[in-house]
Amino acid sequence: MKKYKIAILSGDGIGPEIMKEAIKVLKAIEAISDVTFELHEADFGANAYFKLGHSFPDKTKSICIKSDAILKGPVGLSYEETKKIPIDQQPERGAILPLRNFLNTYANIRPVYLSKYLSDFSPLKHEVIKEGIDFIIVRELLGGLYFGTKKLGINDNGKRYVMETLEYNEDQIKQTLIVAFEIAMKRKKVLHHIHKSNVLKSSVLWNEMIEEVAEQYPEVEVKYQLVDSTATFLCLNPGMFDVMVMENMFGDILSDQGGGILGSLGLMPSACLGDKISYYEPSHGSAPDIAGQKIANPYSMIGSVAMMLEYSFGMLKESQNIWDAIQKVLIDGFCTQDLFDFNTDKNLVSTDVFGDKVVSALLNNKLLSSLKQ
Ligand code: IPM
Ligand code: MG
Repeated sequence: MKKYKIAILSGDGIGPEIMKEAIKVLKAIEAISDVTFELHEADFGANAYFKLGHSFPDKTKSICIKSDAILKGPVGLSYEETKKIPIDQQPERGAILPLRNFLNTYANIRPVYLSKYLSDFSPLKHEVIKEGIDFIIVRELLGGLYFGTKKLGINDNGKRYVMETLEYNEDQIKQTLIVAFEIAMKRKKVLHHIHKSNVLKSSVLWNEMIEEVAEQYPEVEVKYQLVDSTATFLCLNPGMFDVMVMENMFGDILSDQGGGILGSLGLMPSACLGDKISYYEPSHGSAPDIAGQKIANPYSMIGSVAMMLEYSFGMLKESQNIWDAIQKVLIDGFCTQDLFDFNTDKNLVSTDVFGDKVVSALLNNKLLSSLKQ
């Protein structure tokens, strides 16, 4: 029997609630397949700072490094609470970015998916998304403005001054492009590079690199789209995209727009892929304002489990079964508050009931397929 070690970083705000549902799904997968998951919980984020004085403690690092994959919930607190933490220990700067750096997770995969049967959830007109929404954002995760040199101080004129640099080298770009081309090969073989080469030299280098890497993937059609016009087309015609690749900051912004056109950021799981250990997290924040109320959507956390099974463990069938189960629950008419609209005939369910329904859909699906054999 295969055994995988998974580090569980539940995080802050709604993190622990949605992680609980993800763990239920992992247990269900254990029950129906030939695999065991050894779960190791570790402190991470603002809660870790208040408990241990560090938002990414050494003990958590060592648990991560000994695991086969990491499942991470969102971190962060309200603006007021965050102010109680020194700036470099605040969870975004003190935990998430160091985690990405520590694991060298350079490629971030963010599927933006809405079945055509669920188009009511989207704020876009039905005519625009008749066929649903289905594209993947591949975001570079370790470069650009996030990790470039930074300076804060007083300039020669005595004025407060800040400098943040957008830096990339060709190896960094290439490794992310390869991930994007590989994904494009498994889908429609169309790859959009989202850039701003009319202004930014970094985009010029990205465009150059994509032409070079494209030579290894002659079947993939490469298309170029400016980042600002991409924001428009994501509203007017998201169906024109299949796989998109872009630098870090563009990817941060457009992936939230992806959540917006689906109708909720709660529908946005993600995979952060590195050379050795990858980690999986919702694309959204920790929503401290709704924490503890059992109204958060666990889809993004459960979807992150599906991505972990696919990318870290090669369990493609089980991963697909999880996707099918989540879709079934939504298509059967159940949803959490973020997607609920009194004007439709949907049934509002709590975080844990949604998780339970995904688990029973998974188990029933297994039962049905074994009856068919
Ligand atoms: C994301 C988040 C993070 C980012 C923050 C929390 C550091 O917004 O994963 O998209 O900007 O990358
Ligand atoms: Mg973001």
